Amino acid sequence: MRSSRYAGRRVLITGHTGFKGSWLSLWLSRLGARVSGFALAPDTEPSLYVAARVDERVDSMIGDIRDADRVAEAVAGFAPEIVFHLAAQPLVRRGYAEPLHTFATNVMGTANLLDAVRRSGSVKAVVVVTSDKCYREDTNTFGYRETDPLGGHDPYAASKAAAELVTSAWRASFGNCPGAALIATARAGNVIGGGDWASDRLIPDLWRAARSKRPALIRNPAAVRPWQHVLEPLSGYLLLGERLLGGDAEAADAWNFGPALADMESVEKLCQSMCPRLGVEWRYDRTPQPREAAVLRLDSSKAAMRLGWRPRFSLDEAIALTGDWYARFDAGEDPRGLCIERIERYEQCRRR
Ligand SMILES: NC(=O)c1ccc[n+]([C@@H]2O[C@H](COP(=O)([O-])OP(=O)(O)OC[C@H]3O[C@@H](n4cnc5c(N)ncnc54)[C@H](O)[C@@H]3O)[C@@H](O)[C@H]2O)c1
Repeated sequence: MRSSRYAGRRVLITGHTGFKGSWLSLWLSRLGARVSGFALAPDTEPSLYVAARVDERVDSMIGDIRDADRVAEAVAGFAPEIVFHLAAQPLVRRGYAEPLHTFATNVMGTANLLDAVRRSGSVKAVVVVTSDKCYREDTNTFGYRETDPLGGHDPYAASKAAAELVTSAWRASFGNCPGAALIATARAGNVIGGGDWASDRLIPDLWRAARSKRPALIRNPAAVRPWQHVLEPLSGYLLLGERLLGGDAEAADAWNFGPALADMESVEKLCQSMCPRLGVEWRYDRTPQPREAAVLRLDSSKAAMRLGWRPRFSLDEAIALTGDWYARFDAGEDPRGLCIERIERYEQCRRR
């Protein structure tokens, strides 16, 4: 990334032990930031956080975002200048199984974080990561815009819409207080890219099926999603964070960071490209499943026009990079090296 605005800056990432958080920790530490993190311990095996030794780059505190005192302790102790809030229960199907846990984590967790920020005195900027799923479903749209109504059919989606409302309330209620942080929200699509081993996600499910030499069972092959390489939304979060740190009050708003419209493809198309790379077959799982949105598309023209952000990798490139990441991981390559290689390549693309 061109900018060195993060060099020497104190940055707190909530959810640093997760998939996006691990990549973001590595990227920010490469940019010279003093990175701290607050999250639960990694709960997948393997986990990118452990495999890529992210803890060597992060001052880590393990804690629960639902525990307001612990969150306040983390924010006061690390005294960050900027916070990237990623900690969440991020899975749609787990949202159906554990709705209260999902709302407590995603809604009250966001409120706990923003209240700790409000009382901290150190924080100048916050990027709250929500989701493309925060919008009220509209089957006629060519792509959700930031001005579209919030909604959310299932508990996960509704919890992310509610996190948007919480953020908006904090901005409206406390944004004019002296020294108040500038707070933005970021809504991105379905990320791929290597190192994700969460349950109930497409690429990790394909990887696990390949490992067990069984066909992968795919629930919604016709579902269309805004697939993107993980570095795409992260570059948006970083750019947004820079604007906020620079005092740009207009950036304290909601932002979509999705792929190009042509790259919003069906699960089936993604499987057709990815399965040969991972050496696995897939089959349609026709057993009844909890409802999920049929089509999700994001319109990111606001970020393009006002932040100068746009995706750098096509979907084909993102798929190739992802397949290659897992293949090289399986062959014994160092996951941290693989991530740094991708980050360097992404930075080169941006410079071009
Ligand atoms: N992965 C995607 O495709 C995608 C798409 C849209 C939005 N998002 C959002 O991006 C963020 C990161 O997602 P991810 O894919 O890295 O998920 P992940 O499951 O890999 O990581 C989630 C992180 O949140 C932490 N966390 C969960 N519950 C917590 C709690 N109670 N207290 C403290 N920490 C807790 C976990 O420890 C982990 O560090 C989430 O907010 C998610 O909703 C992800």
